[in-house]
Amino acid sequence: MARVFSGIKPTGSVHLGNLLGALRNWVVMQDEADAVYCVVDLHALTVRHDPAELRAATLSLAQLLIASGIDPERCTLFVQGHVPEHTECAWVMECTASFGELRRMTQFKDKSEGADFVSGGLFTYPALQASDILLYDTDQVPVGEDQRQHIELTRDIATRFNSRYGDTFVVPEAVIPPAGARIMDLQHPENKMSKSDDGAQGTILLLDDPSAIHKKFKRAVTDSDGEVRFDPTLKPGVSNLLSILGAAIDRGPEAAADGIERYGDLKEATAEAVIDLLRPLQARYHELAADPAETGRLLALGAEKARTVASATLDRMRSNLGLLPR
Ligand code: TRP
Repeated sequence: MARVFSGIKPTGSVHLGNLLGALRNWVVMQDEADAVYCVVDLHALTVRHDPAELRAATLSLAQLLIASGIDPERCTLFVQGHVPEHTECAWVMECTASFGELRRMTQFKDKSEGADFVSGGLFTYPALQASDILLYDTDQVPVGEDQRQHIELTRDIATRFNSRYGDTFVVPEAVIPPAGARIMDLQHPENKMSKSDDGAQGTILLLDDPSAIHKKFKRAVTDSDGEVRFDPTLKPGVSNLLSILGAAIDRGPEAAADGIERYGDLKEATAEAVIDLLRPLQARYHELAADPAETGRLLALGAEKARTVASATLDRMRSNLGLLPR
């Protein structure tokens, strides 16, 4: 079975775009592959953070993943900082990537430009990401388009390491969903739905209550031609609503338009479908949140499973590098 690995950072709130664009696919992959999912808390340290917020966000993200259907029995779910192999391997990744390669990363350029403090970790971030992926003999990495360059670098690092020191790492491949599958911002349908947009009016959070969801859909940007039709180029707002409605009721966006003639009805139907989709997820989340020790237990088991794989890869890497056995 193919090994699939992906990671998600515990910063900001999880939104509908994350669920429909990524997490739902993570859930499916659990049964089609040997799936490993990681809450990458160490990657959240590359920019200034608040310790109490990080602690809460890491736990709550793990709980949201489980509530979304990530089942610790059917996959490996763990927190990056629980598996020390990641940081040990990352040093070797830093020594295998070149300064020039790291400097060309567009995510680094975007995040460092104009920032008053740029950590060394922000620069070496992709080396830690490469170690996340390579430690698990990963075949496929499901990620968004914005991560393509990091996966390419991971492939280059793995290939270079293998040719210098002998076959050690599996060279992974990025699996990126088609552009049409993306969920866009309700206020700015030309942009991807994200956690950092203005006022969050365009972003549906997984923990939004029904009245907040109604309000946000009611205010969603449409257009003035008045026809409910799927056409992402000419009608980005309406098409985004159809994509969301379709995804929520398991139909294509064109089929989702059937029988809906007015924008008001489309917004209402989409809001209801999203509320229905999120209801069981939120209920499960609140159960888990009431019992943090249980989540702690599940994450400890996940870390143990992860370490078994990661430590074997790390031993192979150390030996091929010429480090003395310990
Ligand atoms: N860099 C990814 C992001 O910002 C998160 C991440 C860290 C990741 N390690 C990973 C994704 C390994 C896939 C595989 O979204």
